[in-house]
Amino acid sequence: MDYILFAIIAYVLGSIPSALIVGKIGFKIDIREHGSGNLGATNTFRVLGIKAGIIVTVADILKGTIATLLPSLFDADVYRLIIGLFAVLGHTYPLFAKFKGGKAVATSGGIILGVNPLLFVIMIATFILSLYLSKYVSLSSMITGVVSAIVAILFKDTGLIIVISVLTIFVFYRHKENIKRIKNGTEPKIKWM
Ligand code: G3P
Repeated sequence: MDYILFAIIAYVLGSIPSALIVGKIGFKIDIREHGSGNLGATNTFRVLGIKAGIIVTVADILKGTIATLLPSLFDADVYRLIIGLFAVLGHTYPLFAKFKGGKAVATSGGIILGVNPLLFVIMIATFILSLYLSKYVSLSSMITGVVSAIVAILFKDTGLIIVISVLTIFVFYRHKENIKRIKNGTEPKIKWM
């Protein structure tokens, strides 16, 4: 019963389309019609600027973190990473945005923050270094997934290794258009780093 309850809460929480809300309320635009069209933090930075981008990044991370922390608050007998996966599902296939959401990066990071803050810090460092070297946000997101799956082995936590591996495969799947663009040289690079 706990699994069903917290999975539903996590999915609904993950479904809150922060990029859409910030675009509509703050800028009176539908971000799905601009930039890459993705309902995520990267497209928010690209289309709406740094402040809006930071708000959406934090909100999307928090959806995952809250989803994994809530069961602990209620002493629920669940494996919190599984609950977190439902927040990622909500973020990518949101109930409140016609099931077309983001690419799973920030909310996946958020669930790791909720269960293993040290690994989250390693993920952030990996992402920043990859971004500095490649200038591609999408590629940095995928590299961070692969590195996190490898680093997870050091924590000797089988569940964590499996969940991060599943999330990394999912992140690659969600970036299939970005991968095509990287290959044909049309993926935008960031200019400010
Ligand atoms: O997290 C999404 C990012 O990796 C790519 O987003 O908008 O460039 O497709 P976008």
